[in-house]
Amino acid sequence: MDLKKRSWAEPFKIKMVEPLRMTSREERVIAISESGYNTFLLKSKDVYIDLLTDSGTNAMSQDQWAGMMIGDESYAGSENFYNLEKNVQKFYGYKYLIPTHQGRGAENIISKILIKNGDYVPGNMYFTTTRLHQELSGATFVDVIIDDAHDSQNLNPFKGNVDLKKLDSLINKVGAEKIPYISVAATVNMAGGQPIAISNLREVRKLASKNKIKVLLDATRAIENAYFIKIREEEFKNKSLAEILKEMCSYTDGCTMSGKKDLLVNIGGFLALNDFEIFEEARNMVVIYEGLHTYGGLAGRDMEAMSRGIDEAVSEDHMKARIGQVEYVGNKLIELEIPIVQPIGGHAVFLDAKKFLPHLNQLQFPAQTLAAELYLESGIRAMERGIVSAGRNKDTGENFLPKLELVRLTFPRRVYTQAHCDVLVESIYEVYQRRNEVKGLKMVYEPKYLRFFQARFEPIL
Ligand code: F0G
Repeated sequence: MDLKKRSWAEPFKIKMVEPLRMTSREERVIAISESGYNTFLLKSKDVYIDLLTDSGTNAMSQDQWAGMMIGDESYAGSENFYNLEKNVQKFYGYKYLIPTHQGRGAENIISKILIKNGDYVPGNMYFTTTRLHQELSGATFVDVIIDDAHDSQNLNPFKGNVDLKKLDSLINKVGAEKIPYISVAATVNMAGGQPIAISNLREVRKLASKNKIKVLLDATRAIENAYFIKIREEEFKNKSLAEILKEMCSYTDGCTMSGKKDLLVNIGGFLALNDFEIFEEARNMVVIYEGLHTYGGLAGRDMEAMSRGIDEAVSEDHMKARIGQVEYVGNKLIELEIPIVQPIGGHAVFLDAKKFLPHLNQLQFPAQTLAAELYLESGIRAMERGIVSAGRNKDTGENFLPKLELVRLTFPRRVYTQAHCDVLVESIYEVYQRRNEVKGLKMVYEPKYLRFFQARFEPIL
């Protein structure tokens, strides 16, 4: 033990516990086969440590729970809406707020308003729901992230950056009038939770303004991104996360937000904007898809919990422990020479399934296979982020073949302990040792939209 080193620990203690259920291997064999080898289709009662997602799986604080008790459940003009509006203005800096039931509710509204048929939307890698809403509104998504992002071993500290040359050449090719906005995510989920630098965001803003194109931020994990900026971008080392967040947002015209991540709640999202005319249209549209503009599909108490979550998420102690936990697992796996995406991301550790199972070709679904195998080994639930998630080209119907074929071990905030993390690492190591015996899968049912959620598979014998 290194006695000179000072460890950090979570800035909270635990007041309420939820029992976990262990299962036998026999039970898990039945459960995964009944789920079509898709971890999304497992029942949570059959899961031991649930790392499917960090979305809506967070533990709320006593202050957030106290906020639930003062939920103002009026249909219109709830007090909690105004609290949330004030906090979004204060921390994100946008003028206007539309609450939505979750992130994709905001994506739906803004895509419908800004996109015309035949448009192009460039972005720093796709996200599943974001791209689908853009496509359903008639746009083609164009990936303009730097090439480094597609290489799981490249150590660039800002793999979420936009490649300005790619963006510029798209503008020259299709014309600025065909690009309603640039879609910038912070952090980039599908690249492994990788951050974008403020220096890059400034350049994106410049190029966009020169061409009269808007910039929309996917702010879902922007506070985690702010933490990476603080520790990796020299200029910001003495700034608070709140200051960095505000500056990030200042280079954009608005954001879509899934509060279920950064903001430490179980449900909720919003659309925030600076342009009054777009806001007015969005305020009109939200009543069709979500609910009145002062609740957007949420209960008053949900808005209160999300508002209080903003205060907690910008705390550096919180973020240090949150990202510290992810790094703890990542570093242990690196020590064991298990292939993961590096640098380690903000919300998850991503196993590189192509390197983990090199004997499988991509059409045998290595990441889907590995996620199922990890469940069989230990009851730990992870998620595929590879060829199944990437889906098909909307024009040709061909499978996208993403360079990254990953299994995401996603960490709910404030939920699991370091001992859970150790069990996780041990289980992955077990699978790694017998990786050569692992066979692939074939897809036997494929839904039309976002197929990864409901697709079914069978083992290749
Ligand atoms: N943008 C990003 C970057 C996301 O990660 C998500 C959701 C959304 C938008 C959509 O938000 O779920 O509230 O509608 N990601 C979850 C995940 C589902 O597991 O990564 P939502």
